Amino acid sequence: MATMESLIGLVNRIQRACTALGDYGGGDQAFSSLWDALPSVAVVGGQSSGKSSVLESIVGRDFLPRGSGIVTRRPLVLQLQKTEDGQQEYAEFGHLPRRRFSDFSSVRKEIQDETDRVTGKTKQISPVPIHLSIYSPNVVNLTLIDLPGLTKVAVEGQPESIVEDIENMVRSYVEKPNCIILAITPANQDIATSDAIKLAREVDPSGERTFGVLTKLDLMDKGTNALEVLEGRSYRLQQPWVGIVNRSQADINKNVDMIAARRKERDRPGGDRIYGVFDNQLPAALRKLPFDRHLSVQNVRKIVSEADGYQPHLIAPEQGYRRLIEGSLNYFRGPSEASVDAVHFVLKE
Ligand code: GDP
Ligand code: NA
Ligand code: MG
Repeated sequence: MATMESLIGLVNRIQRACTALGDYGGGDQAFSSLWDALPSVAVVGGQSSGKSSVLESIVGRDFLPRGSGIVTRRPLVLQLQKTEDGQQEYAEFGHLPRRRFSDFSSVRKEIQDETDRVTGKTKQISPVPIHLSIYSPNVVNLTLIDLPGLTKVAVEGQPESIVEDIENMVRSYVEKPNCIILAITPANQDIATSDAIKLAREVDPSGERTFGVLTKLDLMDKGTNALEVLEGRSYRLQQPWVGIVNRSQADINKNVDMIAARRKERDRPGGDRIYGVFDNQLPAALRKLPFDRHLSVQNVRKIVSEADGYQPHLIAPEQGYRRLIEGSLNYFRGPSEASVDAVHFVLKE
């Protein structure tokens, strides 16, 4: 762990040096190859599938522009740098060296302003990335990349080529062999129509560096469930599928703080019900249960204890993010240390 963390720390410094030299993949050959080799985690998915929300939750801070429509219009290369316990958290932009941001809402504003500086206040996109580093004792050393969402049609104010432009931009990041792909699909959309899976399959046909992420589990229609997908039966990947509930637009409008939202969810009466169970195999007894209703933790423990030798892990929603972080670190450390678990979600009503 310590070795991997320091390697990623080194890599992050190299990445910043490349940026300082004005290289982001298209410039000098030597720097381009170096850049290509650096490990990163990028989100891929349709517009408003929840990509920025997932990244934000991995970091645990509110700082990314989110919302309906095309919000993310330039790539954001986000380097997380773990600092010593007790140190104050701050963020720094590549285009504003020496200015420390300790207020994360001003980080969001600067991302918006810097996007507009290049594209204007339009619905246009630009492939020139924004570089942001977050220094905090509460993060792991990882480079995360937020990208514009894949679309199907150009809307008012966009050139006809935008659909292809976005796809090519996203592909240029995720085709690199050292890029983990978080393929984001909303659970209230049919997996067969997933843009994320389509592009991920093209650049990573064996599925070894793709994490399937289902967002918006809370918005699924009553009577439907996500088991087929989360168990990898709809689309098999070598990494486990992960189910996620991000904050809704209503939460965002009400300024519901991320950590507070999760705590509230846990402490709510009935909040002991489980959202999911993950392990290598789901026992037959548990499989038979209707997965579109709530189960209490006690109830599941009882059922599970009747299934011989089965060790359940009950997971709360926030642990979906944890799985993504652990999975990414495992990938960079080597597959031998990565454990492949299925994730099973019990849906919220
Ligand atoms: P992006 O365009 O893929 O980056 O998606 P955003 O993260 O900007 O989210 C788009 C919209 O979907 C926002 O209004 C979010 O609040 C909402 N959203 C994202 N994930 C979830 C989720 O799990 N549940 C609910 N209810 N809303 C979500
Ligand atoms: Na959006
Ligand atoms: Mg976004």
